[in-house]
Amino acid sequence: MNILITGATGYIGRRLKHRLLSEDVNIRLFMKRDKPSIEKQNIQVSIGTTFDPISLEKALVGIDVAYYLIHSMDSKNYQELDRKSAENFREACIKQGVKRIIYLGGLGDKETASEHLLSRIETGEILSKQPDKIQTLWFRAGVIIGSGSASFEIIRHLVEKLPFMITPKWVNTLCQPSAQKDVIEYLAQAAFIDTPHSTIIDIGSKTMSYKDLLLGYALACGLKRTLIPVPFFSPKLSSYWLTLMTPVPYSVASALIEGLKSEVLLKNNNATKLFPNIHPMDYEDAVKETIEEIKHKQIISRWSDASGEAWEIDHSALSNAVFIDRQALPMGNHSAHKVYTTFCAVGGKNGWFGYDLLWRTRGAIDKLFGGYGLSRGRRDSRELRIGDSVDFWKVVDLQENKRLLLFAQMKLPGIAWLEFLIKDGTFYQTAYFYPHGLAGRIYWYLLIPLHFFVFNGMAHNLMKSIKDED
Ligand SMILES: NC(=O)c1ccc[n+]([C@@H]2O[C@H](COP(=O)([O-])OP(=O)(O)OC[C@H]3O[C@@H](n4cnc5c(N)ncnc54)[C@H](OP(=O)(O)O)[C@@H]3O)[C@@H](O)[C@H]2O)c1
Repeated sequence: MNILITGATGYIGRRLKHRLLSEDVNIRLFMKRDKPSIEKQNIQVSIGTTFDPISLEKALVGIDVAYYLIHSMDSKNYQELDRKSAENFREACIKQGVKRIIYLGGLGDKETASEHLLSRIETGEILSKQPDKIQTLWFRAGVIIGSGSASFEIIRHLVEKLPFMITPKWVNTLCQPSAQKDVIEYLAQAAFIDTPHSTIIDIGSKTMSYKDLLLGYALACGLKRTLIPVPFFSPKLSSYWLTLMTPVPYSVASALIEGLKSEVLLKNNNATKLFPNIHPMDYEDAVKETIEEIKHKQIISRWSDASGEAWEIDHSALSNAVFIDRQALPMGNHSAHKVYTTFCAVGGKNGWFGYDLLWRTRGAIDKLFGGYGLSRGRRDSRELRIGDSVDFWKVVDLQENKRLLLFAQMKLPGIAWLEFLIKDGTFYQTAYFYPHGLAGRIYWYLLIPLHFFVFNGMAHNLMKSIKDED
């Protein structure tokens, strides 16, 4: 069987790819750009986007089953883009004789759906519009409980940080969460099941309120937590609160909060009929399993993996930057490997080699402006791969024992990078900045005194930390 996975750099797609590697199938990934971070052993890669029908048709040649695991939520006009993307995908699949499209959307009703959910519903409707020409299995899932899932990260951060929680009334809304493992299992098995019709398959475990999710997490971790419901928490205030207390930025928090106002319950039992061997995991077990995964650093993907705007920018012409701060230090006896592994550990809980209070302040300012701040942290405290987020940076280049290039995803009046480079026995640390207009220039000049301490300190402390270890 030949399978195409779209969204292979995203949260769901990356995990599905991992799961399908254990099956006797040929996998082809459809990606916007080739990414060295994606493990590609025995896997073909086809480059393109769903907005380019030619690349899409090429990718679908000889494919039996095509997974549609993408969305355009990062864009302002995402509804329009998602409609176009789904139409192009369905038409290209029909043209290339694909037998089955498998799509994962969200649970919920059209009448009460948030704008984001509505777009996901529309995508499902467009993909399944020609059942006589192509079959579509449309899965619908609610909150996904698993390491790296945005909803789970919100629950985790709220419960772990706050012994008392003032909660809005949406905490009483009902939902049916799904363990991430179950979602991936349904999607993987969907390629092989024998069913002739296009079907909507709702997935989830037992019905709970969001309050139960918070208290259930506390119980699984042996924490005692008290929720105090108040009537005055507006969706806007709730979104700001989540942005402040959890790793998600305002855009993600507000989309999630909008979705929490209405119930998301299963409307059919097609999952039990078509997949009798899958028994949805209880919420408590899913939480325990996820905590184990985090403890053992087995996080395959995170909500922040998809690259968004980071790849819309040319990262190859850094030397044209208007402002540059470069630190160059001789490496002495230290091997390139030692220096490389040291700078690859930057960020997250490891900190920024000094002046962490300033970094935290910058993170807090970023959060205030709706950015990521420092709270995304790192997927793994040592290992990095291209596409990983490191606090408010994104890894856009990684060359073993040579280079780490971070692209700034913080709110800035310009575009910035931070590069760590090893060349001819010297360690270079360079900050690059392209200002946007006058505001960008004023920003850079105002920060010169702080940059002097922070960048200087970082390079020297980084090298010193190796000496201390030696
Ligand atoms: N995550 C959840 O908790 C959850 C819950 C319920 C349902 N779902 C559904 O599951 C699906 C996948 O979600 P996700 O969370 O895995 O998304 P995600 O992490 O944001 O990943 C999106 C993926 O789509 C790719 N992509 C976006 N536009 C594209 C285009 N035009 N052409 C080709 N590739 C494109 C991105 O590539 P780049 O990395 O190159 O940008 C990325 O790989 C969505 O339909 C979502 O509604 C997710």
